[in-house]
Amino acid sequence: MVKICCIGAGYVGGPTMAVIAYKCPNIQVTVVDISVPRISGWNSDQLPIYEPGLDDVVKHCRGKNLFFSTDVDKHVFEADIVFVSVNTPTKTSGLGAGKAADLTYWESAARMIADVSKSDKIVVEKSTVPVKTAEAIEKILTHNSKGINYQILSNPEFLAEGTAIQDLFNPDRVLIGGRETPEGFKAVKALKEVYAHWVPEDRILTTNLWSAELSKLAANAFLAQRISSVNAMSALCEATGADVTQVAYAIGTDSRIGPKFLNASVGFGGSCFQKDILNLVYICECNGIPEVAEYWKQVIKINDYQKNRFVNRLVSSMFNTVANKKVAILGFAFKKDTGDTRETPAIDVCQGLLGDKAQLSIYDPQVTEEQVQRDLSMNKFDWDHPLHLQPVSPTTKKKVQCVWDAYEATREAHAVCILTEWDEFKKLDYQRIYDNMQKPAFVFDGRNVVDANKMREIGFIVYSIGKPLDAWLKDMPAVA
Ligand code: NAI
Repeated sequence: MVKICCIGAGYVGGPTMAVIAYKCPNIQVTVVDISVPRISGWNSDQLPIYEPGLDDVVKHCRGKNLFFSTDVDKHVFEADIVFVSVNTPTKTSGLGAGKAADLTYWESAARMIADVSKSDKIVVEKSTVPVKTAEAIEKILTHNSKGINYQILSNPEFLAEGTAIQDLFNPDRVLIGGRETPEGFKAVKALKEVYAHWVPEDRILTTNLWSAELSKLAANAFLAQRISSVNAMSALCEATGADVTQVAYAIGTDSRIGPKFLNASVGFGGSCFQKDILNLVYICECNGIPEVAEYWKQVIKINDYQKNRFVNRLVSSMFNTVANKKVAILGFAFKKDTGDTRETPAIDVCQGLLGDKAQLSIYDPQVTEEQVQRDLSMNKFDWDHPLHLQPVSPTTKKKVQCVWDAYEATREAHAVCILTEWDEFKKLDYQRIYDNMQKPAFVFDGRNVVDANKMREIGFIVYSIGKPLDAWLKDMPAVA
């Protein structure tokens, strides 16, 4: 039986390995992690991450050919193929701080593989890494090899949180990069055989190592760029009376552009887009191409602009102050169908409102109060450095309350901010919400989930991203 071990039981390692185990009953898959709570979670009924469909897949295989363990050394020692899916955050200090990828976790995983291995291994980069990381990993492994042969492959993951299981069951493509040597080709073939259990052969793409590594960064940069492009248009729509949904539909019907990923919003979030673009920018700078670095930096600048613009619009519409006003925040996760809050635009919006002394009442169906308090107390980029975790700030604690019900969050509030596109926010009884709010009652829809005209009929003053402004908002222009 082929044995696979995956180092890192996170949002990628957990679901990816569960699907491999599900689709390949003849392969034994063990996911290992240094985090005891994470592994206990994977072995319990309350999985450590929320992802539609994940429970069923895990329950089907766990204890048969899918295992979760903290005994990292033992399972790496036994494996034929070792996936590395550890976090690769942005560096917070030293050379490249604020841009370069921090490969501390990756390097320590590689050194551990070299330490415990006694047989040949295929080591697969699943984490998103800078181009040429495979070369560095190869050096660490071969300098400590004790005669063992290692083949490094790049197999970046393209799943999207919220639809991870669907994406893994039916991927647009699987990408495998390897060395163009007889041993490299053999290793690529071995990994291809794993995916071929359920992925059609024409969707398994093979490239050289560097193309595979760069393709992942490029894919995320292109996706984020689409969001920043439509968000840039949303500002112009508000200024001119155009409607961004109509503009997006009109351009998206051009088959060269396509309709997906054209929703204007308060901004993109998630653990990957910003981190991977910053990483791309750093690589461009290191390779002496500052023009290309500047080009990609703009994608992040527009995203920051969009979040600031939203806060400014909110404050200026409410007589230029939200001090001590209750603002209800509906949605804190970075997108619907996940509890993940890493780099969620809700953090910047809430921090902006707290800066103006607002009182926040937050409801998200999948995010706990503890998580919200921690996120609002953390410094930029620290969220992915578990060692740097800081205590929750007492000021934030006083100003932020989390509740488990949208009606409770909005009771007596001056304004409602919709920051995640959870389906349930479309179906709320907004008349009831309006009746229980302070007047004038405002709705700031950062995801365009509610029908603004219906809301206006109820009596709300409504701001929807990229839509024609109502008279109130026109009279109170936001200062950029
Ligand atoms: P995560 O933070 O959820 O999981 C990483 C896990 O690795 C943590 O549980 C951590 O304890 C563990 N870990 C770190 N060092 C370790 C070590 N030396 N030994 C054992 N375990 C160790 O991260 P996530 O979201 O799963 O991302 C992993 C990688 O995949 C990152 O490079 C990310 O950029 C990439 N990626 C993430 C996607 C996403 O949607 N979250 C999508 C595609 C790629």
